[in-house]
Amino acid sequence: MKEIEGKNYYSIDEIYEKLNGNIQKEQIREFFENKKLPGRLIANVWYGEEESLEDIRFLEKAVMIGHINFDLSEINLKGRILDIGGGGEGIIGQLKGAQVVAIDLRASELMEAADGDYLKVIMDAKDLKFLNEYFDTVTAFFSLMYVPTSDREIIFKEAYRVLKKRGEFVVWDLIIPEKGDIAKEYYGISLSIATAEKKISTGYAIRWNKQQNYELYTELGKKIGLVVKDHHVDENTFFIRYEKI
Ligand SMILES: C[S@@+](CC[C@H](N)C(=O)[O-])C[C@H]1O[C@@H](n2cnc3c(N)ncnc32)[C@H](O)[C@@H]1O
Repeated sequence: MKEIEGKNYYSIDEIYEKLNGNIQKEQIREFFENKKLPGRLIANVWYGEEESLEDIRFLEKAVMIGHINFDLSEINLKGRILDIGGGGEGIIGQLKGAQVVAIDLRASELMEAADGDYLKVIMDAKDLKFLNEYFDTVTAFFSLMYVPTSDREIIFKEAYRVLKKRGEFVVWDLIIPEKGDIAKEYYGISLSIATAEKKISTGYAIRWNKQQNYELYTELGKKIGLVVKDHHVDENTFFIRYEKI
């Protein structure tokens, strides 16, 4: 163990011992090297903090995609913005400040979100307390992955309702494949998000009991009258900018 700046750090060998040899040392090294865990490389030896032990126990049960870099520094989001599931890091609030009303089901997630000049409100996206055609933009930044499959359409209809004509629904999310017989409980992504001012490293994961992809959300959008104006799909994530016509 090494003490650095008042914190205890453990080498991979020590972590392996502490976890009773349940996770291979190679696997732990990979977590550090791929930035899935914060670690420190000292004289070519990786060290992790005490708190990392819980994260390693989680990572062992998860498929975590990444580390993926996202550049939002030049993202165009117009007018008054409703951010669905805007707790967590509060990325859209951090990006667009006073333009944003961030709603989340959970007060704890909103309290955890970074402070900023945006409004945080406890509200269910299935039952928005806003008038029709009130927002220029609705966003969901890695929030739909947290929504039960049966709630997706209700949330899309609510987003549609509160959007002004020509308003945009902007979605970033994770492609979640079929679990099949893969023996992992969670599926998630570890990412770094660049805003104009800073870089935010975080991770989002869910219990792996659903699938989602670009095609599914394109169909859903079409069904309720949203047109895809722009999109980007890569191996693990998708971005969709819909327009209400
Ligand atoms: C972890 S956040 C996603 C990342 C977040 N947008 C950020 O900027 O870091 C997803 C949030 O969606 C919220 N959520 C799930 N279902 C919801 C619903 N029906 N209405 C509002 N929020 C919901 C969850 O409570 C969770 O905090």
